[in-house]
Amino acid sequence: MPIRHLQFSRRLVVGGAAAFALVRPALAQPTPACGRVTAAQTEGPFFKPRSPLRASLIEPGMAGEPLRITGRVLTRFCQPVSGAMLEFWQADAAGAYDNSGYRFRGHQLADAEGRYDLATILPGRYPGRARHIHVKVAAPGRPPLTTQLYFPGDAGNARDGIWRRELEITLAKGDGRFDFVLDLG
Ligand SMILES: [Fe+2]
Repeated sequence: MPIRHLQFSRRLVVGGAAAFALVRPALAQPTPACGRVTAAQTEGPFFKPRSPLRASLIEPGMAGEPLRITGRVLTRFCQPVSGAMLEFWQADAAGAYDNSGYRFRGHQLADAEGRYDLATILPGRYPGRARHIHVKVAAPGRPPLTTQLYFPGDAGNARDGIWRRELEITLAKGDGRFDFVLDLG
């Protein structure tokens, strides 16, 4: 190998190490390990307060593909939000909301580790929207984060102006996961 080439390579290595040294002080800063606060989204027209306290929205005779979503409610610094309230509402398998009663509506409280566990069905689509589940998440005594959860690969995602990939649950064989990060230190 020509000597000139070797010298050039050594300069590149030295330059790289110097660049890394410049970056290191920034890396030493404490990092919010849970990343970004979960994005808020519109409540939509179908929210109803005073939903029943229940982790399962499934009632006998309901149609639909079973779906479970689990996850945690966390602060920006990954601390669990014990006792956070999660209130879910969604369309039935045919894409209709129950506006006279409380079908597919319910709230639950996160446990001491911030965990929640929702049993429901895959919501149906309705015109103009991606498949989604509405949710409000509130730390005790704090105003709620209102947002919506989406489904990876749903055909409606690309056509829905408010769909956001960061609000997709991860999904494997009917088991969904999503962690909420509230704007709390
Ligand atoms: Fe909706």
